[in-house]
Parts: sequence; structure tokens; C-alpha cells
Amino acid sequence: MKKRVAILISGRGSNMTALIEAAKTKDYPAEIVLVVSNRPDAAGLDRAGSSGIPTAVIYHEKFGDDRETFEQALDRELREHRIDLVCLAGFMRLLTPWFVNRWSGRMLNIHPSLLPQFKGLHTHGRALEAGVTRHGATVYFVVPEMDAGPIVAQDSVAVLENDTEETLAARVLELEHQIYPRALRAVAQGRTKA
Ligand code: GRF
Repeated sequence: MKKRVAILISGRGSNMTALIEAAKTKDYPAEIVLVVSNRPDAAGLDRAGSSGIPTAVIYHEKFGDDRETFEQALDRELREHRIDLVCLAGFMRLLTPWFVNRWSGRMLNIHPSLLPQFKGLHTHGRALEAGVTRHGATVYFVVPEMDAGPIVAQDSVAVLENDTEETLAARVLELEHQIYPRALRAVAQGRTKA
């Protein structure tokens, strides 16, 4: 039985698209059955819709500062769709330990750096500033501490002398589109556990 996967987004959804494309392969062990955005204007929603995948918007601003009620609504949506695995893909909300623990071992995130280096935002600029020779992307199981969970997949590119934040980000994004489908495959097959 294929694992039922929900993808959570906030923006353009290029990683979401890579996962949707990968899951179209016949022998892929997961199917994308739901895309949820916390923003009604996320471009990824249209992309998901045109691939025929059900979408939902749970707009965080409607909940003000009440993270718990927002997350309860999210949790309800996931359970209604009988979701086995959650993939965060550019989902720009910090999740509380309550939600993270509910989905412990069943929720992945992708981060544009070679974790544990450069947790948090603006990773490409920080990598250039630090003068690293390699930079990359990581897929990991989400734990309450930010960008700190067990690593499922990681890959890197060389940092070039004339790289700007934009050129580096573009090369890393290409990597992301390769490693996220690979990581989800491994987790859905039970080959990798948290
Ligand atoms: C990616 O760089 C991802 O690593 C980070 O947010 C970005 C999302 O891009 N978490 P997209 O929406 O998947 O195109």
C-alpha cells in the first residue's frame, strides 16, 4: 500500500512539484493526496490544483497569535485525509512541540544548507559570507528544535568563486528537487526511520 502524503507549503512550491512529479511514477511508494497552505495566495496551490491534487488553506492570520488552534485545524485536516506522512516544503510557520510530537517520525522538512551548518533563514548568503567551499541541502525528520532532527538525505555542490546568493540558491534548489523525492521514497518504504 502506498503511503498517503500531505505536503505543507507557504509559497511557490517547487519542491512540492518535484514530489508530485516523482509520485507519478508507478513504483513510487507514496502518493500525494493533499496540499495544505497557510497562505491563501501561495502560488503552489494553483500548481497542485492543476495536477488534480486536493488543496486546503488554513490561513494562520485568522487565528491571530493562537498557534494551538491553528495547529489543531491543521491536524484535523491531515487526519480527515488519513495522512501517513507529512512533507514540509517551504512551509514558513514554526510548529509547536505539541504538533511536532503528534507527527513524530512521520514529518519531513527540507532545508537549504548542509545541516548542522546554517540552521534558520538566509542560508545562501551566510554560506557565502562564511567562505565555505561546499553548500547544499538536507532532508530531515522534524523535531521540536529547529532544523535539528535526524538526517534522511543530504547532498552538496561546490561553491564557485563568482557565486552570488541567487546563483548559489538556484544550484542548491536543483539539488533539493533531487533529494526530497529520494528521501520520501526511503521513508515511505520504511528503509529510513527517525
Ligand atoms: C526551499 O529552498 C526549501 O529548502 C526551503 O524553502 C524553499 C522553498 O521553496 N525550506 P519551494 O517553495 O519549494 O520552491
